Amino acid sequence: MEEKKVMLSGIQPSGDLHLGNYLGAIKNWSARTEEFDCYYFMADMHTITVRQNPADLRRRTLEQLAQYIACGLDPEKNTLFIQSHVHQHAELGWVLNCYTMFGELSRMTQFKDKSSKHKDNINGGLFTYPSLMAADILLYQPDYIPVGEDQKQHCELTRDVAIRFNHIYGDVFKVPEPYIPKAGARIMGLTTPESKMSKSIPEGCVFLMEKPEDIQRKFKRAITDSDTENPVRYDPKEKPGVANLMNIYAAVTGRSFQAIEAEFAGQGYGRFKPAVGDAVVECLRPIREEAQRILSDKAYLESVYKAGAEKASYVANKTLRKVYKKIGFVAK
Ligand code: TYM
Repeated sequence: MEEKKVMLSGIQPSGDLHLGNYLGAIKNWSARTEEFDCYYFMADMHTITVRQNPADLRRRTLEQLAQYIACGLDPEKNTLFIQSHVHQHAELGWVLNCYTMFGELSRMTQFKDKSSKHKDNINGGLFTYPSLMAADILLYQPDYIPVGEDQKQHCELTRDVAIRFNHIYGDVFKVPEPYIPKAGARIMGLTTPESKMSKSIPEGCVFLMEKPEDIQRKFKRAITDSDTENPVRYDPKEKPGVANLMNIYAAVTGRSFQAIEAEFAGQGYGRFKPAVGDAVVECLRPIREEAQRILSDKAYLESVYKAGAEKASYVANKTLRKVYKKIGFVAK
């Protein structure tokens, strides 16, 4: 029997999961459970590059796990784990730090972004974060990394580091490819269509666990434009707010831009915005309800992350041993 291809991805539990995380990443994960051998984790080690409140971090990590499951990631078929439970991430992260160049790390957009937002805490971890991300990935020898567009640069650096390492030591790492969805790869803020949806601008960010009436209110207040002639048409340059809403509607309903234009031909934003809101509410409703149910069962969640860490450690350890041997560390 041919071996299944491997998929792996993670999300930082630094805030509540939002529609960008769902459409850019998670939706793609759950659609591919049968086809691939899948590893998904809560990237808690990455979150401390920015100061976190310990109690909130702990709570959000478990909530994120409940939401992963509610989004359709069956723990029987996917390996779901917490990054800090698998110590091989930190170990390979250190090794890969020594194979990642200062210049490469300096070019990372996320570093530039975060260091300008947190000027009082530009720590070493923030800078070397991509080496840890490369370790997260390469430990599991995945074929694909399903992420939103903003993580493409980190995935490319991971490939470069893997190729560099393989060039020195032979074929140690599989060189993976980012797997970026056609619709939903870059969801913009509802109030700031020029920048990506993120928890740092809550008015323009739709959270997975948010109440339907709050979601609707955010969509009704979404920024559009003053076009009255033929308002609902896809033109990201001239009409970024509308293009973003169309993108969301397309990702949630599976409809093409052409079909959406036809659906709202001759109609104004007064009809279009609530329709997008309704589609999102209906898409998120079962996820919210299921996540709330799962979250109340702490023993179940614990059994999931413990089994996940055990399985992940087994795989991660194989790669780490190989790496240690290649670079000349004495075996234990
Ligand atoms: P993070 O936690 O910022 O985001 C998690 C996932 O959500 C996607 N995403 C979006 N997609 C579309 N539109 C948006 N507005 C939007 N905002 C976020 C991201 O692209 C990502 O797929 N470094 C990673 C976490 C990580 C990781 C890994 C990912 C750590 N190790 C290994 C893959 C493999 C991050 O900060 O993503």
